[in-house]
Order: sequence, then structure tokens, then C-alpha cells
Amino acid sequence: MPSTRALRLYVNVDHVATIRQARRTDEPDPVAAARLCERAGADGITAHLREDRRHMQDADIETLAREVTTVLNLEIANTPPMIALAERLRPYQVTLVPERREEVTTEGGLDVSRDPAGLRRSIERLEAAGVRTALFIAPDADSVQRSRDLGVSAIELHTGPYAHQPGDPTTLRALADAAALGRRLGLAVHAGHGLTVRNVGPVAALDDVEELNIGHSLVARSVFLGLADAIGEMRSAMDAARGTGGGARA
Ligand code: PXP
Repeated sequence: MPSTRALRLYVNVDHVATIRQARRTDEPDPVAAARLCERAGADGITAHLREDRRHMQDADIETLAREVTTVLNLEIANTPPMIALAERLRPYQVTLVPERREEVTTEGGLDVSRDPAGLRRSIERLEAAGVRTALFIAPDADSVQRSRDLGVSAIELHTGPYAHQPGDPTTLRALADAAALGRRLGLAVHAGHGLTVRNVGPVAALDDVEELNIGHSLVARSVFLGLADAIGEMRSAMDAARGTGGGARA
């Protein structure tokens, strides 16, 4: 049965900055890209300020926080300087992610069993500052349950295993089960990592998921199509799978 729940598309503009940083120059500008994404129908803009500043820089985040007209989803590690930055900038949403310097991209979900008191304190501080909080987690029942116990508003289910093992039905089942449990527990359920126009359908069709965060493949497709058409192509794939037309603003 087609879903009647809208599915938001948040576009991650990190890799626009990756291209800029390859030459340490001033183009392409991720803030200009964010404006384009918004005009092309993105429901929100996502950006990850990594400790090693490999793509987004502090000034990018400051400008995005001021200029994004939809909503900004800021991805950060749970460290004191990052939490302080988020408290000052007060983006619409913060997604806490694990971070290791040597990884190519965020490789696993947050280990929510490690330092739960520290995680809970950060979530409380952010929510007290009016920031919606999400935890990027593996799609398993224990992580979902623990996230709920930490008082977070939302979970973002890691779709990397699903994306990287096409044809393995257990990875999609894990996402479906974790999404259903999250929603049953009163959490908003997001998903992301490694999603492309080719693999987004089955995830977009999960009625319990309300937001997708997609970056790399949109920036990659935009080399050939331009950002607006890359977003249009993704939105069409999401809508076709969901049985809906058009997105919804957060
Ligand atoms: N969600 C989270 C938490 C991420 O860290 C990333 C990668 O920055 C994404 C979604 C987007 O992944 P991709 O760039 O593979 O679309």
C-alpha cells in the first residue's frame, strides 16, 4: 500500500566543499550549493563539521546557520567544542555521529552503549537550546531502544550496510524492523548513507522513515546533470517508491 506520510529529502553538501578543499580555493561554494538545493526542492540542508575540517570549514557552517531558509541539520561528533558550537548556532537539528580521523567517511553508527551519561548530557543541552536531536545508529533493536532511553528526538538509521551489500535482503529487513521499533517508541526515524537513485526505492518505501539524508551520490550525479536535476531525479525515485508526489517541508 502506498505511504501517505511525506518523506523529507535533506541534501548533504559536504562534498561540494570536498571539491573546493582539493584545491584550497573558493569554489565550488557549499553555501551557494545549499541555496541551489533549496530552490530545487530540498527540504533541508545537512552538513558535517569534522574535527579534521576535511570538507566543511567553520565559516561555511556559520554562514549556513544564518542563510539556510529551509532547515539546517548539523552533523557533529559528541565533543565539548562541537556541542558548544551547536548551542551557539542553534541549527534546527543536530545529528550526533561517530568520528574517526582515519575513516574515509562515517563508517559505523554511534556506539550508544559507550558513555551514555555523556550522550544524555549533550542531548539535554541541545534540546534545552531548542535544537532537535538525532543519533546516527546501526539499525538494530538495542541501539534503537538505548537511543530512546537517552531522550533523543530522532534516530538516523545507517543505510551503509544496505547500500554496500545489494541483493542481501537481511540489510533491508534490519532497516524496516529498526524503523518500525523506533516509530513505536515515539522516535522520528531518519535514514542515510550510501543512498543513490538506484538503491533509494526500498528505503523510501518504508512508511516509518520520514527523512533521508543524501550527499555523495547527489554531488556525483550533479557533475553530469547539475544539482537541480540530480535532486529532481532523486526526488522522483523517492516519490515513485513512496507512492507520493512532492516533498514536505520539515
Ligand atoms: N547521514 C550521516 C549521518 C552521514 O554521516 C552521511 C555522510 O556524511 C550521510 C548521511 C550521507 O551519506 P552519503 O554522502 O553517502 O549520501
